[in-house]
Amino acid sequence: MRSPTEFALPHVAAMHAYTPGLQPTEPGWIKLNTNECPYPPSPLAAAAIVAELTGQGEALRLYPNPKAAPLRKLVAHLHGHSLSEQNVLIGNGSDDVLNLLVRAFGGPDAPTAFTLPSYSLYPVLIAIQGGRAVPVPFDREMKLPVGALAATSARACFLTSPNAPTGVGFSNAEITELLSRFAGVLVLDETYAPFARENAVALLATHPRLIITRSLSKAQGLAGLRVGYCLAHPEIIDLLDSVRDSYNVNRLSQVAAAAALSDGSYYAAIIGKIIRTRDYWFGEYTQRGWFTYQSQANFLFTEPKNALGETGSAVVRSLYNFLLSRRILVRNFPNNPLTESFLRISVGTDEEMLQVNEVIDLWLSASLNL
Ligand SMILES: Cc1ncc(COP(=O)(O)O)c(C=O)c1O
Repeated sequence: MRSPTEFALPHVAAMHAYTPGLQPTEPGWIKLNTNECPYPPSPLAAAAIVAELTGQGEALRLYPNPKAAPLRKLVAHLHGHSLSEQNVLIGNGSDDVLNLLVRAFGGPDAPTAFTLPSYSLYPVLIAIQGGRAVPVPFDREMKLPVGALAATSARACFLTSPNAPTGVGFSNAEITELLSRFAGVLVLDETYAPFARENAVALLATHPRLIITRSLSKAQGLAGLRVGYCLAHPEIIDLLDSVRDSYNVNRLSQVAAAAALSDGSYYAAIIGKIIRTRDYWFGEYTQRGWFTYQSQANFLFTEPKNALGETGSAVVRSLYNFLLSRRILVRNFPNNPLTESFLRISVGTDEEMLQVNEVIDLWLSASLNL
């Protein structure tokens, strides 16, 4: 008998799905593997959901605002720089926005460039469209490969800044240079920008080929709600609106996201705390003699050394498994020589980071006793 999947499109049947980080369902884990916020979201978010559910959830009977229009207006207002709601599109997480961008700009005859390493969802989204992926590698310095990106004939280029998994941020001067040399649209994934020194929103006014994506999953602590957005020229927003699900953001997410974004002082405090913790542990890992990229994100990308001073993928596997055995989840990236000897550790609370450090010390002394 023929398998029903034989009727699938060949490029879909052949593709490899994105592998999300482990999401344990039982309590007791220190979860530093998917860069979630270690602090709860603004209490205004849950209050907005409760308010939306009054009258036995009567509002749930009705579809949400198809464009999430009030949220678009608020996002535009909060960013300033003369942005209006015509410059904003809201997505079911920024992943939804990234998917719409690949759908609009990528295809078999429309190559899509992205840097390596960066967010591993991009090639998956390109593969879903049967598109042509043009990966452009970094070297160990992780400097922006402007010339190599400009030399691609890609219609769209996806760049993460600050980058994942390294945490290295690119300056507006570098982004401007890339925009002047690369001919297509530049999608700048600014998921981690709230933790960075600089962001590129001001460049939108003078660069119609620039598209910025943002997420509420990290700085705003709303990964479970799935809200992200895109800032771009109104014609690009119209184009994306034409290829998105009509009701792509649910009612509860729309009201909670708006409430959270209105609570600027709450988040300024949290972001400040995360940055301080990050910079403290950057110093500590560096003091251990572990090469660590200067991070502008809410995670650290560090190259562990064992008690013999060795680095490499076996050392990383050993520490990863040791942490796992003590219910600490971090992330490793074994598929690229530039990342295989590193661990990415999301910035947790000070207490969580101290516990990680104690387990690292245990691992070092355990390896000495072997
Ligand atoms: C670079 C990058 N972009 C986008 C996302 C997805 O964010 P969201 O939860 O808004 O879909 C992530 C999540 O880890 C990310 O690391």
